[in-house]
Amino acid sequence: MSSVDLRGRDFLKLLDLSTEEILYLVDLAAKLKGAKKDHVPHRYCEGRNIALIFEKTSTRTRCAFEVAAHDLGMDATYLDPAASQIGKKESIADTARVLAGMFDGIEYRGYGQEIVEELAEYSRVPVWNGLTNEFHPTQMLADLLTIRECFGRIEGIRLSYFGDARYNTADSLMVMGAKTGMHITLCGPASYMPDPALVQTCRQIAAQTGGSITLTTDPREGAAGADVLYTDVWVSMGEPMQAWEERIGEMKDYQVRRELMELAAPEAVFMHCLPAFHDQGTGIGREIFEKFGLSELEVTDEVFESPQSVVFQEAENRMHTIKAVLAATLCTEVIEV
Ligand code: CP
Ligand code: NVA
Repeated sequence: MSSVDLRGRDFLKLLDLSTEEILYLVDLAAKLKGAKKDHVPHRYCEGRNIALIFEKTSTRTRCAFEVAAHDLGMDATYLDPAASQIGKKESIADTARVLAGMFDGIEYRGYGQEIVEELAEYSRVPVWNGLTNEFHPTQMLADLLTIRECFGRIEGIRLSYFGDARYNTADSLMVMGAKTGMHITLCGPASYMPDPALVQTCRQIAAQTGGSITLTTDPREGAAGADVLYTDVWVSMGEPMQAWEERIGEMKDYQVRRELMELAAPEAVFMHCLPAFHDQGTGIGREIFEKFGLSELEVTDEVFESPQSVVFQEAENRMHTIKAVLAATLCTEVIEV
């Protein structure tokens, strides 16, 4: 049995948490997932209320917060990109103080990391980062749980990411791997590599945990021997539609396809935070096909639909891991795992 006290803490980026705290949240999520599957009630936060601010759209993160809140005995209020005063008529500092007076915790999805950090500075209740341009920490907990379910361990796992390596998902994977002793390779065009200062910070952390960070522009080198091949959209939320043309040119060699999977370890899995452009089943996917003739973007449909793909297990784990964050930061008692 182990316990870690995260009561009252914010969850803004994995850099703020120790390895022990991160692994505790993964263990707690596994415990809560088991409880849910066994229909064991786990209303640890009965009667609490949380606010969900979304300045960008969402399927998984919003639903995960809402279902998790409900399972824990809480109510959640959703503030959509158009329906609140935030940033337009009311400052972040004022919003934080208003919401903290009514709610027990605040989730924020939006643009700069500095916004969620400011929200936390002015809020006297926990603030959780549901994605910024820089980081996506709740996604990382789901990824860790999924990796542990697939391989029985996290430490020593070799995860290679392909595509836009200077944005939220890739940068968070680098921090996640450094904190937990994984070998992370970020593979993409030279002009889409992460901030060197963040790479240096991650390498320093990895030196303590036995992990490593590798950057490469060569997709074959990136895939060789990897346990996990991971990708994300080539154009992220908040970026202009015009970015697609340049991005397609730059990223097409980093598409995760069968030839790359074949270079990976025999038991390798494919992961993606989702949503994914793997066919023409989306409006943007069809638009891209009409304009550029590409029917699959960051991952081929063959890989996405293959038995090696664990993307829907990963998506479900968003809920169990977000529930762990809510329970750990809001529950009046420390929950043992
Ligand atoms: N992976 C993820 O954050 O999905 P949503 O954008 O649907 O929340
Ligand atoms: N990089 C993506 C992640 C979506 C979960 C985006 O920011 O749109």
